[in-house]
Amino acid sequence: MLHEKSEILLKEFENFLHTNLPNCKSFHPHFEKALHDILKLKGKRFRPLLLLSVVDIYEPLLVPNSLSVAMALEMIHTYSLIHDDLPTFDNASLRRSHPTLHVTYDEVTATLVGDALNTDSFLFIANAPLSNDTKIALIRELSSNAGSSGMVLGQAIDCFFENKKLTLDKLTFLHIHKTAKLIACSLKMGAIIVDLPKEKQELIYEIGLKIGLLFQVQDDIIDATKTTKEAGKPTSSDTNKNSFSNLLGVKGALKEKTKLIDEIKIITKKVDSKLEQRVSNMIDTYLK
Ligand code: IPE
Ligand code: IPE
Ligand code: MG
Ligand code: MG
Ligand code: MG
Repeated sequence: MLHEKSEILLKEFENFLHTNLPNCKSFHPHFEKALHDILKLKGKRFRPLLLLSVVDIYEPLLVPNSLSVAMALEMIHTYSLIHDDLPTFDNASLRRSHPTLHVTYDEVTATLVGDALNTDSFLFIANAPLSNDTKIALIRELSSNAGSSGMVLGQAIDCFFENKKLTLDKLTFLHIHKTAKLIACSLKMGAIIVDLPKEKQELIYEIGLKIGLLFQVQDDIIDATKTTKEAGKPTSSDTNKNSFSNLLGVKGALKEKTKLIDEIKIITKKVDSKLEQRVSNMIDTYLK
């Protein structure tokens, strides 16, 4: 069961998301609806929760000021999912148990909703009630982890090397970029908001990279072991991919998970026992 405080943070986030959806009303018949629908669909909100948890642990009074930054993370993540599902990427017809945007509407709408979420996320940070210095640091962090040396690079490698088997080192590089960097920067952005010392911020980022890798190992295991209905997205679809379960087998991937969980516990304890509690509760809830 999710920690009581995490439940409260998730509720606050959900409420913020529903009341702050980007306003893009026009005479376009469905652009705004498409953008709102995909954001409203219930995802785990894992990245916002990481950010808000760090803020809540160190400066709970700053949680309300951080909601639009958490929203920016969810918007970048959602854009990455929309593009990931396009026919030219993974060609998936289901996301969060609903037809994907390019299926409901068309590829142009899906691509542009993704583009809009990517750009608008930085507007949400710019408009957050935080100091300008903090906001510049947040923008630097998010853009460098999501862009050409982060998630986008990971997606480029993931797609280019379909049907071309990578070594474990290269596969790890792929997944660090594709998934772990955005997750690591979610934690670090929380640390930036509460102005933790630089060394602590870096340690928290390192923990985040491991949580991110764990997240992708689990995602790969889900693809190999769950039904489409259970996952809310197509499964058994990674056959051409450099997934952890393809390279290591499901058993090997499960072993990798245990190893990462142990490592995360050890480093997180070093930073803070409260952080350790929240993180291990999130791992128990979402990643076991
Ligand atoms: C799926 O992300 C894509 C990966 C990075 C593995 P999530 O599993 O966080 O998707 P939602 O947001 O809960 O739908
Ligand atoms: C996508 O990874 C990660 C992103 C950057 C969106 P996957 O392709 O494994 O994600 P799912 O399984 O479709 O959610
Ligand atoms: Mg993909
Ligand atoms: Mg995919
Ligand atoms: Mg996957």
